[in-house]
Amino acid sequence: MKKLTLIFVSLSFIAGLSISLTANDKTAGKCMVCHMEISAGLYHQWNNSEHALHNVTCYDCHGADKKEIDSFLHEGTYIATLVTPKDCGRCHTKEADETGMSYHAKAGQILESADAYLAHVAGGHPAAISGCESCHGSKVEIDPKSPNRLTAESWPNSGIGRINPDGSKGSCNACHTRHGFDKSQARQPETCGKCHLGPDHPQKEIYEESKHGNVYFTNVDKMNLDADRWVVGEDYYAAPTCATCHISATRTQQPSHDVGGRISWTLRPPISKHKDNWQHKREKMKDVCQSCHGLTFIDGHYRQFDGLVNLYNEKFARPAGEITGILKKNNSFENPAAFSNKIEWIYWEIWHHEGRRARHGAAMMGPDYTWWHGIYDVAQHFYFKFIPEVRKTGDKEAITYIDNMLRNDPMHRWMSQSTDELKKAIRSGEIQKIYEKLFTPEVGSE
Ligand code: HEC
Ligand code: HEC
Ligand code: HEC
Ligand code: HEC
Ligand code: HEC
Ligand code: HEC
Ligand code: HEC
Ligand code: HEC
Repeated sequence: MKKLTLIFVSLSFIAGLSISLTANDKTAGKCMVCHMEISAGLYHQWNNSEHALHNVTCYDCHGADKKEIDSFLHEGTYIATLVTPKDCGRCHTKEADETGMSYHAKAGQILESADAYLAHVAGGHPAAISGCESCHGSKVEIDPKSPNRLTAESWPNSGIGRINPDGSKGSCNACHTRHGFDKSQARQPETCGKCHLGPDHPQKEIYEESKHGNVYFTNVDKMNLDADRWVVGEDYYAAPTCATCHISATRTQQPSHDVGGRISWTLRPPISKHKDNWQHKREKMKDVCQSCHGLTFIDGHYRQFDGLVNLYNEKFARPAGEITGILKKNNSFENPAAFSNKIEWIYWEIWHHEGRRARHGAAMMGPDYTWWHGIYDVAQHFYFKFIPEVRKTGDKEAITYIDNMLRNDPMHRWMSQSTDELKKAIRSGEIQKIYEKLFTPEVGSE
């Protein structure tokens, strides 16, 4: 079916069978005939896509009005190279609106962040372009002297929150790789893995480690990824992917491009906070789990997850943040600029790398990230890098804070006790009791 239609469409363009073709169709025909020669791979990606099947042509996406800021004359026709969410939204309104509302659409607004400061001072502009902006999105600028009018510094770019000249945010091909624009491809974890990996947000690695990832990779052929409708529990059941939990349909939920809709915590900041309306969002995620698990099992998972987030918040993040605040207030750093002192890097890595890894590991069932790449690193660096470095500054207020904490906080008192005493307390369950209050979601909320 698909092949036949395509052959007809292509042949009719090539042979110039103009009986029922509009001016647009003729223009589009020229694009295809020429580009079939000069960029055959690109042409075939398109020709095998749902778009070609439905007669959505080069010109439908790239055609532009002369007045558009990024349009230029190309082989006698005004076109634009960029095809933004606004352009796709002409035909896919729901997906474009949801993407625009999502946290993804905000990802290009990072210039004021500590990360961006660090990239620009400790790194340098080229690193910000090929690094940060490749994931987050550039602000695409127009260069009247360039052949395609986009500056080489700002494009190519397919960052998730790219700021487009038409005011729209993002690039749909961050997930729907061009020119196939395939939804089955976007359902697979590799798609998200371009950005969701590495030392500060290893979601891809955690997924690969988890039972969910194990089962997925050993059963890819049973995932029914090409299905038009992809309802978990009905159209497939072997394993969930990133898209299953964060985007795709359940028996009671439509798919949504607003990726934050099922998340109750934000695990990104130094101290985790609940998202607004978090109970409702959590219920939506639990509804996904319920396609494959029982409610007691799911509630158990969330209890363990909340316990870990609160442990990180209360035992390490809060004191480390308060101590850093004291040093800042008292001007106790050696050098003036932010990130020009070793201790600032140590604190940064505790929350931004190790602390996030621990939280993400617990959220998505990756035990190695929760402990060995997570809380283990947090604890070692808190006790044996951060605290010694604070003591070196000689700041009396900060040192008193630390001494008090190590003496009086039951979670930190262990350092001055005997090993035998501590082992006895572990066996009797006394030590575990210290952490009992952490197993409710409310502890860390603010
Ligand atoms: C006669 C041949 C020909 C025709 C007809 C043609 N193109 Fe091209 N197109 C080219 C060539 C050559 C390039 C430059 C290729 C390169 O840089 O490798 C190009 C580049 C492009 C680019 C990239 C522009 C940039 O530099 O960013 C786009 C997008 C494009 N064409 C779309 C179209 C569309 C849409 C049509 C139909 C309206 C079309 N082309 C018609 C030959 C053609
Ligand atoms: C469904 C919409 C759509 C269709 C149909 C489409 N394109 Fe594109 N094209 C895009 C998107 C999206 C990009 C990426 C531009 C951006 O960064 O915004 C792109 C980029 C390009 C580029 C520049 C990028 C590169 O890899 O060099 C060329 C050239 C191009 N398209 C040519 C074509 C041609 C020729 C056709 C028809 C055979 C076509 N496109 C059909 C959406 C489309
Ligand atoms: C001129 C209208 C039009 C434009 C513009 C358009 N599309 Fe489509 N798109 C369609 C049609 C028609 C289909 C096939 C029917 C359907 O699935 O809705 C489709 C299907 C899709 C699919 C599903 C493919 C699959 O595997 O089933 C995706 C994903 C998609 N488009 C993404 C995009 C993106 C991203 C853009 C912009 C770069 C875009 N479309 C621009 C009309 C359009
Ligand atoms: C490999 C892709 C990638 C690179 C490179 C990257 N980031 Fe990110 N960044 C992400 C992802 C993914 C998240 C969200 C992680 C999460 O939700 O757990 C994120 C989160 C952030 C946040 C937190 C946003 C918030 O609301 O809390 C900031 C700020 C940020 N990045 C800035 C930067 C800067 C600046 C750079 C360059 C120095 C950079 N990032 C490099 C992918 C990347
Ligand atoms: C974060 C990744 C991501 C981005 C960015 C993204 N999509 Fe999707 N999209 C998906 C996934 C995953 C699916 C498959 C959902 C499912 O399982 O049915 C999908 C499905 C679709 C479909 C098919 C809908 C259907 O019911 O058949 C269309 C059309 C679509 N996306 C258009 C867009 C457009 C337009 C944009 C940009 C405004 C966009 N997408 C951006 C991940 C993404
Ligand atoms: C091109 C890079 C990129 C891709 C691909 C990508 N993301 Fe993201 N994602 C980000 C960035 C960057 C952020 C953080 C946004 C910010 O800083 O504003 C983020 C944030 C998120 C969030 C947190 C939302 C919230 O409200 O807190 C979720 C969930 C998410 N992404 C899921 C996904 C899934 C699932 C996929 C694949 C289907 C995916 N992402 C593909 C870059 C990407
Ligand atoms: C089995 C379901 C499931 C799968 C599969 C899954 N996640 Fe998650 N994800 C979750 C849960 C549960 C949370 C925590 C939700 C909460 O805060 O209530 C989460 C949280 C997140 C966050 C928010 C992190 C933050 O810093 O705030 C991002 C981003 C994310 N996931 C991306 C991904 C990506 C990318 C993949 C695939 C590589 C993936 N997830 C696979 C269930 C899943
Ligand atoms: C498409 C089905 C499916 C969905 C949806 C799903 N899971 Fe699973 N889950 C599985 C399978 C299969 C296993 C492996 C069972 C085994 O080890 O015997 C599993 C295992 C687990 C485990 C045990 C991990 C381990 O290492 O033993 C936990 C915890 C879990 N899932 C929680 C969740 C949560 C929470 C959600 C929703 C956010 C969820 N799952 C969504 C299929 C699913």
